[in-house]
Amino acid sequence: MKENVHILNHPMFEHKIAMLRDINTRPGVFRQIVREIGFLEAYEALRDIDTVTTTVTTPLEKTDRQLIDGSKLCFVSIMRAGLEMAAGARDLLPSASEGFIAMARDEVTFKPHLSYVKLPRTIAEKKAIILDPMLATAGSSIAAVKKLIEHGVKPYAFCCIIAAPEGIKAFSEAFPDIPLYVGCLDRCLNEKAYILPGLGDAGDRIYGTND
Ligand code: PRP
Ligand code: URA
Repeated sequence: MKENVHILNHPMFEHKIAMLRDINTRPGVFRQIVREIGFLEAYEALRDIDTVTTTVTTPLEKTDRQLIDGSKLCFVSIMRAGLEMAAGARDLLPSASEGFIAMARDEVTFKPHLSYVKLPRTIAEKKAIILDPMLATAGSSIAAVKKLIEHGVKPYAFCCIIAAPEGIKAFSEAFPDIPLYVGCLDRCLNEKAYILPGLGDAGDRIYGTND
């Protein structure tokens, strides 16, 4: 595994992702878990983020402490499914700004179709963390990174919940210097480019659109 690929082998990820995989997990609970994983993965991705020394006045004295400047960060969700992960990242650091890239995979070619981009005006001055639950062929994530590069920002990290080996290979060959955070590495893709064992269509599971 490449040095920039972080598979977050932790019982808490395994536990929460097992609940997402379960076909009986309904959208309300599914959304909540996706949000919790978004929180935890953003926490991991921010492990080495710069801090600024700030004087804090406690009830007893002044002390110089380290704070993260949220205005220098942007959580970028790949819609639809990334929105709920970004909600978790927002819970972690509410002062960060947010960006949105809407993308849908063609069911036959598996290529992503971009339909909407909204980024902060000063995105080029921020560290951008992309969130999307699924890294399958990596077509969507690679297209999202290219879009950010067009706007002058090389993403700081990419976070996903489940990845296929094919997607990790494609992403890390395209962008070897962008750290990839993966909740769980699955076995392979099927003939429809779905991840096995996976969790199905993340957007449909989150929003109940397969009902
Ligand atoms: C899913 C997922 C990723 C993409 C991953 O979105 O959220 O964006 O598929 O597949 P890839 O790595 O092969 O590109 P989808 O296109 O199904 O849209 P949705 O979020 O609206 O469900
Ligand atoms: N997109 C999903 O939502 N699930 C997969 O398994 C692959 C792509």
